[in-house]
Amino acid sequence: MIGRVHKAVFPAAGLGTRFLPATKAQPKEMLPLVDKPLIQYGVEEAVSSGIQTIIIVTGRGKSSIEDHFDVSFELEQLLESKKKTEMLSMVRLISDMIDVAYVRQKEALGLGHAVLRSKELVGAEPFAVVLSDDIIASQTPCLRQLLDVYEFYGTSVLALMEVPGDQISAYGVVDAELVLNGSDNRLFRIRNMVEKPRPRDAPSNLAIIGRYILTPQIFESIEAVEPGSGGEIQLTDGLKHMLRERPIYGLKFEGKRYDAGDKLGFLKATVEFALERPDLGRAFREYLNDLCKQ
Ligand code: G1P
Repeated sequence: MIGRVHKAVFPAAGLGTRFLPATKAQPKEMLPLVDKPLIQYGVEEAVSSGIQTIIIVTGRGKSSIEDHFDVSFELEQLLESKKKTEMLSMVRLISDMIDVAYVRQKEALGLGHAVLRSKELVGAEPFAVVLSDDIIASQTPCLRQLLDVYEFYGTSVLALMEVPGDQISAYGVVDAELVLNGSDNRLFRIRNMVEKPRPRDAPSNLAIIGRYILTPQIFESIEAVEPGSGGEIQLTDGLKHMLRERPIYGLKFEGKRYDAGDKLGFLKATVEFALERPDLGRAFREYLNDLCKQ
């Protein structure tokens, strides 16, 4: 019988250099997309996919993430005394939503290293990894889509997306074979993968996006690999190592992904999410229409 996935790991110790100066004294995970910090979108996706425990890998200067998911006693008292009940329940929901544990990554030595820091808290169970600057809008939460594959095959599953050739070097890229399972040509069995290849070395246009379901053997594999791209311990290299022993699947998920760790990607996500909001969408659309006429 395959184990159930209860835990999701959120690497959040990176320096966020792509978003300077905003991230000089503020974690990129706390940048607000409309009115919610980026990391909360990922946490809500995990919770709505059936995951109860969140493990956040933090580093120096990241305490606002812990405060965000903690109870804010003073704020709750103030809202209560002012009878702002709707705001109060919204604020309470954030801390009630999850069971959260933190582990520190003292040095930013790479994504693989960050995931390895969660080894003790994860234990010998399968788990999810969510990179919170990949924001995914979809009908079925992206993690849930991956979990459906995991629950069928009982082995690791990665989120995949087709990426234009001139952008491929920013990603982990897979060499994969389509699984003809009667579904809609979205499932692949991975043959090989490479982190941030030069365009001419990319084995395909299928990039790994920041959602993973991993079996616990990944920890040994990460321990076995040497620093790779950028001198960092890469999760992709750990996965490639694990591939020698066990199959890994990839799913071209249904949904739209925004790279919210990038300034333009963040702006696109902000505009599209604001347009979808029942409380803001109409007024914002009118504003944009007027702006376009100028
Ligand atoms: C990380 C992973 C990479 C993956 C990407 C998705 O890279 O190392 O394999 O394709 O996330 O967003 P990063 O964006 O942290 O450089």
